[in-house]
Amino acid sequence: MNDLINQEKEVDRTSKQYESHLGQAWIEVDLDMLATNVKNVKEYIGSRRMMAVLKGNGYGLGAIEIAKTALANGATDIGVASIAEGIELRNAGIAAPILVFNPLLKEQIGLLVTYDLTGTVFDMDTAREISKEASLQSKVAKVHIKIDTGLGRFGIFPEEAISFVKEIKELSNLNVEGIYTHFARAYQKKQSYTQDQFNKFMSVLAELAALGYDFKIKHAANSAAVVTLSETYLDMVRVGNLIYGIYPVETKEPVIEIRQIWSLKSKILHTRHVKKGTRVGYGSKYVTPTDRYLASIGVGWGDGLNLEPSFVTIRWRNLAKLILFKFLTHSWFAQHLEKKAWYTDILARVHEYSAEIQDIRVPIVGRPSMQNAVVDVTSLSKKPQAGDVVSFDARIVTISARLARLYIKDKQPYKVINLLGEYDLQVKELG
Ligand SMILES: Cc1ncc(COP(=O)(O)O)c(C=O)c1O
Repeated sequence: MNDLINQEKEVDRTSKQYESHLGQAWIEVDLDMLATNVKNVKEYIGSRRMMAVLKGNGYGLGAIEIAKTALANGATDIGVASIAEGIELRNAGIAAPILVFNPLLKEQIGLLVTYDLTGTVFDMDTAREISKEASLQSKVAKVHIKIDTGLGRFGIFPEEAISFVKEIKELSNLNVEGIYTHFARAYQKKQSYTQDQFNKFMSVLAELAALGYDFKIKHAANSAAVVTLSETYLDMVRVGNLIYGIYPVETKEPVIEIRQIWSLKSKILHTRHVKKGTRVGYGSKYVTPTDRYLASIGVGWGDGLNLEPSFVTIRWRNLAKLILFKFLTHSWFAQHLEKKAWYTDILARVHEYSAEIQDIRVPIVGRPSMQNAVVDVTSLSKKPQAGDVVSFDARIVTISARLARLYIKDKQPYKVINLLGEYDLQVKELG
């Protein structure tokens, strides 16, 4: 089995041989778009450091490829949640500084030092352990102090920071390189809470500076603060959402141009004509209003298909959508307009969930299940068949690790990573 996998590591992309490694559903990640997003953020923040936040496996898209592209286009540092995420990147040859955000367990400290990862510290026991381990390995370990100014997860409270810094600075094998805080509500329109958090952080820094304590890297801003509060940039910003193409605040005119870098894709597995009155999906909630042409696809909520129904919260807008949806699916409309793409488009837009095929939005009908969903493709003039590709909205962080990742670079399929391995897509020489 391993031989088979190893033989196949280089795959001809021109013959689309790689498609067999994608399976029924996969995530397509556009590394060119990522590069542009990173460059645009970098240009916006100026000469300071920029940390690419890659926790949760690069927000679900695959940390290694994201790290390489981000670092090649302006990111200087990497942020991860856990030691394991940091080690994965070191093993892939990433030499940039890697800050581990989560509190450290005692048994992991050896690995932190061995792999030259930077630890987050806010209690003396952990700090002493790191210094002790670094001394055993004849190293000086880097750490950043975390101040909890209002997120309430972990970190030292501002009023305890001075005595903590005095004590930690005494440890011989520690380089207390940085100090930081994290915002709880920077994405909100009202900035008073974030401003308050930032003021607390700046007061701590001023008190420490007055006592002669300075830090090479002081940082606070996440993506939302990058967009809204430039005074929080300090020596480094930590950006996740922005580089993946998620604009972190609601505004009509984005100040940084970014684009979403991923899409969830699946092949149609089966199509069929069904009669009016056919029940679709668990709970039989959807009943076809007329004869329809339906396509089954191999992707569901268990894969990360975005299932945030717009109808759940009782808002006037949602209620209006629901009424419009019921009105449009009334059999008279369905019968007379079903072949019109604009009709399907409206239907898909007011429907709970939708997909895209042949550049047209079509509704997902019935309740999606763990790894299946059904799409109504009646309106498409070119009838889709098994094997055709459909795109969906996905919540990236929850995308299943089972799905293959297809990376696009220089506008070409470049690499597939799936559960069995990694495949470099090469253009094979003829002859
Ligand atoms: C400590 C820390 N900094 C920065 C970020 C990045 O946040 P965002 O994706 O909003 O930029 C995260 C993400 O959760 C984080 O935990």
